Amino acid sequence: MSFSIPRQRPRSYKHNSRRGAFLSHNDKSDLSISTSIELLQSEESFLQILSAIGDLVLVKGPNSKLIWANQAFCDYYGMTAAQLRGILDAPFSEPDHTQQYVSDDAWVFDNKMVLSIPQEPVTRHDGAVRFFNTVKSPIFNAAGDVIMTVGISRDITDQLEAQKISEEQRARATYSSKMATLGEMAGGIAHELNTPLAAILLMAEMIENQNNSLASPDPEIAENAESISVATQRMSTIIKSLKGFSRDATNDERASFPVRELIESTLELCGPKFKNDEVSVQVVQDNLDFMVHGQIVQLSQTLLNLLHNAYDSIRGSANKWIKIETCLASASFEIRVTDSGQRIAKDIAAKIFQPFYTTKGIGEGTGLGLSISAAIVKNHGGELFYDSNKSNTTFVIRLPIPKSQKEAA
Ligand SMILES: Nc1ncnc2c1ncn2[C@@H]1O[C@H](COP(=O)(O)OP(=O)(O)OP(=O)(O)O)[C@@H](O)[C@H]1O
Ligand SMILES: [Mg+2]
Repeated sequence: MSFSIPRQRPRSYKHNSRRGAFLSHNDKSDLSISTSIELLQSEESFLQILSAIGDLVLVKGPNSKLIWANQAFCDYYGMTAAQLRGILDAPFSEPDHTQQYVSDDAWVFDNKMVLSIPQEPVTRHDGAVRFFNTVKSPIFNAAGDVIMTVGISRDITDQLEAQKISEEQRARATYSSKMATLGEMAGGIAHELNTPLAAILLMAEMIENQNNSLASPDPEIAENAESISVATQRMSTIIKSLKGFSRDATNDERASFPVRELIESTLELCGPKFKNDEVSVQVVQDNLDFMVHGQIVQLSQTLLNLLHNAYDSIRGSANKWIKIETCLASASFEIRVTDSGQRIAKDIAAKIFQPFYTTKGIGEGTGLGLSISAAIVKNHGGELFYDSNKSNTTFVIRLPIPKSQKEAA
């Protein structure tokens, strides 16, 4: 899990109004950890109050050495106050995190200001990486030198998760409503276009009939009329696919259909564009009669996302091809989309399924394609993944074999 929100600059400089309440030392350099502990312990009731606080309270001396932690902090790290005393960080913590805490503490010491850290990673005693919201404040002696820091932290991991889920839900809802609007528009266009298309088709048939009734029919006219009919029927098919594709199909009934239908109807939508840009699409003919069980519109959205991603990544290159192949194994059926691109860099590949992650320019990609596609395939009991073992970029839609086909086998 990695969140990377940059550190906020400190909000303000604050003198500690309690300075001198339990510290009278003037020189920070000769304030040893044991002296600090003694001073703190003399304020027994004060420490009891701090220990009762549910948030994590931690007092550190110069060079980030831990001096005192409240009960909540000890419980969180599964260590006693004595075990924590004098060390830099819990031994099981990530070294990078420790380094960051040390440099934050040094910043508070050097700048004599409060440091507000909206989100910092920490390692809990069970090894889980969690996130704290922390405020580190300087504690001054009478001379105005910083002698200690006090950090107050709260575990905000659950809150961040909840925020992430609600952002994803909102994004999905926006995406669905965008698709539904597109569907409505496509429906309207289809309705408007169907009438003139039917008229063109009729005219083409009339020309063909008139030509055929001549004593010597003109083969060129027959051929042209045929071309008009074919082109018109193709336009009807595209409009039908577009209408089907762009509506919200989340609640569609599941049905069985040959994988050929899924691939062909998806290619109806993007094939011409790819051809225009000289991107060749090869469909390996094996297993195309395999019967998939699911929501064809949803799966077509998934396949279209993969094809578009492939197209986007290779369209500027010299050798441009996309291959769609299927693979039937004992427990699963796979649709593999490979493009001529040379794999995805490791650090990028680690993030591509995160919602909103995109390497495309503003207005070019929302970064939702793969996360929504993965959710669709998961809903079908399968998984969508990037196959990093291949030398070309390959994405795989893996679906379970429908029960009926398992029984038939
Ligand atoms: N075939 C591919 N080759 C190279 N990179 C890819 C490929 N497919 C996906 N990616 C990377 O994964 C990122 C996320 O893809 P995703 O489909 O989720 O969003 P997007 O394509 O950027 O935006 P959108 O789908 O909204 O248009 C892409 O920006 C790209 O960096
Ligand atoms: Mg995409």
